[in-house]
Amino acid sequence: MLPQLPDECLDAVITSPPYYQQRDYGIGDIGNEPSLDAYIQNLLQVFEQCVRCLKPTGSIFFNIGDKYESGSLQLAPYLFANAAVRHTGVKLINIITWVKPNPEPRQYRRRLVSSTEPIFHFVKSDEYRYFYERFMAHRDLVRQRVKAGNNIGKQYMELIEQSDLSPEQKQEARLALQQAIAEVQRGEIASFRMKIRGIHSEAYGGYEGGRKSHLKNKGFTIIRMYDRAIKRDVIECPVIAVKSPNHPAVYPEYLVQELLHLTTEVGDLVLDPFIGSGTTAVVAKRMGRRFIGFEINPDYCELARRRVKETVVQPKLLECFV
Ligand SMILES: C[S@@+](CC[C@H](N)C(=O)[O-])C[C@H]1O[C@@H](n2cnc3c(N)ncnc32)[C@H](O)[C@@H]1O
Repeated sequence: MLPQLPDECLDAVITSPPYYQQRDYGIGDIGNEPSLDAYIQNLLQVFEQCVRCLKPTGSIFFNIGDKYESGSLQLAPYLFANAAVRHTGVKLINIITWVKPNPEPRQYRRRLVSSTEPIFHFVKSDEYRYFYERFMAHRDLVRQRVKAGNNIGKQYMELIEQSDLSPEQKQEARLALQQAIAEVQRGEIASFRMKIRGIHSEAYGGYEGGRKSHLKNKGFTIIRMYDRAIKRDVIECPVIAVKSPNHPAVYPEYLVQELLHLTTEVGDLVLDPFIGSGTTAVVAKRMGRRFIGFEINPDYCELARRRVKETVVQPKLLECFV
């Protein structure tokens, strides 16, 4: 059905295609080809259509997992991404790593449990829309506050005690530290670092002058960071964040929300060519985006329709604490 869509009608494509030789979704499905090459060729056909239908301002996200064959990873996601770039001329903006804090609890003894998957972010042109500020800003900030309050503060407090500062200097350092922690907790600053004489290096690179003399005279200095957290190419999110519909490979709503929030606006049109239980459509609807989804298995289509019907538009975003 993809060829029936007009050129440049989509604002985003977000999907998780069937992984190579992992599951059997029924006749005509992608993923059960006899070779990895054939799988990538099939996936490329879908990808080419997605590129054709994407507006120059749009983004395409493909989440693909890998497969072990005779004890070795096949690099299927990366072979696909490489082929996608070479065949269609798209740009690969990021490989976002989805970190699963709750991977399948299997013990292999001869290798570590895989707990990440790549999400490839492709664009068609440099005009792609991107709302950098929105990406995980909320969660990073909350986490930083908690972390700063609980851990960093405690560590610095111990270092002050261990230092050879005079009792008066220690008291001043404790007060300054408590003030910095409170500023982080109130969200006034993003973070801070403390330097204590005799414990931390006194070299400052570009920060000569005031700070250096503060460190020398008072015995400590605090460097405040006003910028929000650096946005890393990582999304941490449990495998099923909300509820588990009857489908074997549902991805988290939170993941889709982050990607939609980062690259689309209310009213935009989103496609998932492998919609499964309908997660992409559910999140799109909740966030006021329009959506199209394709699915080969009629039972999953029914499930997706039901989930979409039960979803209401709401401005509040899902939270995901891991
Ligand atoms: C990994 S699942 C997607 C799950 C989805 N992200 C969710 O949260 O429910 C891939 C889906 O692609 C469907 N599929 C496989 N081959 C297909 C094809 N040729 N056309 C459309 N859907 C297909 C499968 O039935 C399966 O539901």
